[in-house]
Amino acid sequence: MTQMPAADVPGMGRRQFMNLLTFGSVTGVALGALYPVVSYFIPPRAAGSGGGTSAKDELGNPVTLSGWLSNHSTGDRSLVQGLKGDPTYLIVEGEDAIGSYGINAICTHLGCVVPWNSGANKFMCPCHGSQYDAAGKVVRGPAPLSLALANVSVEDDNVFMSQWTETDFRTGEKPWWG
Ligand code: FES
Repeated sequence: MTQMPAADVPGMGRRQFMNLLTFGSVTGVALGALYPVVSYFIPPRAAGSGGGTSAKDELGNPVTLSGWLSNHSTGDRSLVQGLKGDPTYLIVEGEDAIGSYGINAICTHLGCVVPWNSGANKFMCPCHGSQYDAAGKVVRGPAPLSLALANVSVEDDNVFMSQWTETDFRTGEKPWWG
């Protein structure tokens, strides 16, 4: 019967440790490879959204995508508390997605909160009659400008808003609210 030299015992231990490290890094690589696939299926995800401000409901609770979609249907425009607490519309784009932009509800005339009129498919200000289309673009004065936009992103089911600094896609111009 051969006896294992005592010197090999620590060697075995080291090998097992190395196996563990290898396993760990393989798992890490596998998870890393999976991440883009997972994130691809989470609609919508604004490029480079670094979180931002959590959107809150009327009670001040954070808005989740699943919660919002469970009681708002396609085409719905309802208010959340967005950047700086401004009332901001989330747009439901479909059964499983909200729009990548939110619309600030504050009228650009004198600051009334503009309600959404689903029958007219417009935002219609009750104060002096300004109107905005479904994307918040001004279509009737006296409001001088379109409603401000905010970026909307979803991370781990949580809905975030961040400053819109890109071109205003409705006018092709720089955002006036920059
Ligand atoms: Fe909205 Fe005047 S505040 S039209």
